[in-house]
Amino acid sequence: MPQISEALKALKASATVAFNTKATELKRSGVDVVAMTAGEPDFQPPEHVIAAAHEAIDKGMTKYTPAEGTAELREAVAEKFRRENGLTYAPNQISASTGGKQVLYNGFMAVLNPGDEVIIPAPYWVSYPAQVQLAGGVSVPVTTRPEDGFIPSVEDIEAAITARTRVIVINSPSNPTGAVYPPEVVRGISELAQRHDLWLFSDDLYEHLVYDGEFVSAATFAQDRTLIIHGASKAYALTGWRIGYGAGPQELIKAMNKLQGQVTSSANALAQHAVVAALNEVEKTRAFIEMTKEAYKARRDVLVGGLNRLGLKTPTPQGAFYVMSDLTPIHKDETEAATLLLEHAHVGVVPGTDFDAPGQARFSYATSMENIEKALERIEAFVGAKV
Ligand SMILES: Cc1ncc(COP(=O)(O)O)c(C=O)c1O
Repeated sequence: MPQISEALKALKASATVAFNTKATELKRSGVDVVAMTAGEPDFQPPEHVIAAAHEAIDKGMTKYTPAEGTAELREAVAEKFRRENGLTYAPNQISASTGGKQVLYNGFMAVLNPGDEVIIPAPYWVSYPAQVQLAGGVSVPVTTRPEDGFIPSVEDIEAAITARTRVIVINSPSNPTGAVYPPEVVRGISELAQRHDLWLFSDDLYEHLVYDGEFVSAATFAQDRTLIIHGASKAYALTGWRIGYGAGPQELIKAMNKLQGQVTSSANALAQHAVVAALNEVEKTRAFIEMTKEAYKARRDVLVGGLNRLGLKTPTPQGAFYVMSDLTPIHKDETEAATLLLEHAHVGVVPGTDFDAPGQARFSYATSMENIEKALERIEAFVGAKV
C-alpha cells in the first residue's frame, strides 16, 4: 500500500469514539448497556427549527452558499451576540462552519506557525491538542484540580506562558468537567492575553447550559484578541446538522474563510437556514432551552449525589452535561476502571486518559433520568460486590 502521512500516523483517535464503539458492540451482542459516553443532547430539536429545515428544502436551497456562510445566518449570529452577550460584531467578523469543531480548526490553522504553543486548561476536550498538533503547534496543558471545581488559577496559566505562546484556550462551561469559570477568572485570563499579546480562543459552545453561576465570554474583556467558537449543536440539540459559528477580528475571520473556501466550500445550506430560525425565533428557542436546562439540572443532581454516595468523589459542576468522577476506588488506572464498569456493570463512561485526567472518568448525563438511576443501581451492585 502507498504511504500514510507521518502527521496522521501521529494523530490519536478519539477515546470517546473508542469507548462509544465498545459500548455499542456490547449492546449489539444483546447486553443492555447504559451508555453515558455521548457528548450530545438526547432531546429532539425544537419544532420551529425542524419546520425551517423543511422550508429550506421546499424553497430549493440547494446551492453552495458563500464560504463564510449566508448573510442571513451571519446577521442572525451578530444579533445573538448583541442581544445575549452585549457584544457588537459586523457580519464580516462572523464565519459559519461545519460545526464549532471546524471553527476551532480554522482558527488554529489561521494563527499558528510550527512550534507555537497553545495553553489549554486540563482536563480538556480531546480535540484541542489534536487540532493544535495538526496545525503544527504544541499544546501546553495547565492542570486544574477537582478540589477547585476544575477552575484554573490565573497564576498557573501565567506561569505557563513562554516566548512561543500564541493562544490561551478557555472552555467554560467545560467539556469534560462541566466547570463554569467565575467572571473574575475569565477577566484575569483575558488580562494575561492583553499583557502578553496573545489570542484567546473562547469555546462558548455550552453557554446556554449553565445551572449555577454566570456565563461570561472572554470576548467581554478582550474582544479585539478573542475568537469565539460557538454553534447550534449543544443548545438547540442539532449536533448532526453541523453548524458552528466563529466571531472575531476581521483579519482573523478573513484568514479562516480563505482556508474554509479551499477545504469545504461552506457549511450545509439547508442547516444554515434552519439555524437562523433557532437564533431569531427568540421566545420559542428560549422555552426549549429552559425545558432542557431544567431536565439536565435534575439529572446532574441525581448523578452527582449518587456517585458521591457510592464513594466515587464527584464535584458538582455548574454547567454543560458532564461530570468528572474519581474512579480510583474501582481501579487506580482509569481505563481499567472504565472497562470494569462497562463489562461488569454494563455502564459506559469515557476514561480520563485522553482528557489528561488520570484516575477519573467522564459521565455524560445527556441521557434519561431512568438511565441515570439504572446506571447508579448497577454501579452500586458492582462496587458492593467488589468490596
Ligand atoms: C468543548 C467543545 N467544543 C466544541 C465542540 C464542537 O461541537 P460541534 O462541532 O458539534 O459544534 C464540542 C463538541 O463536543 C465540545 O464539546
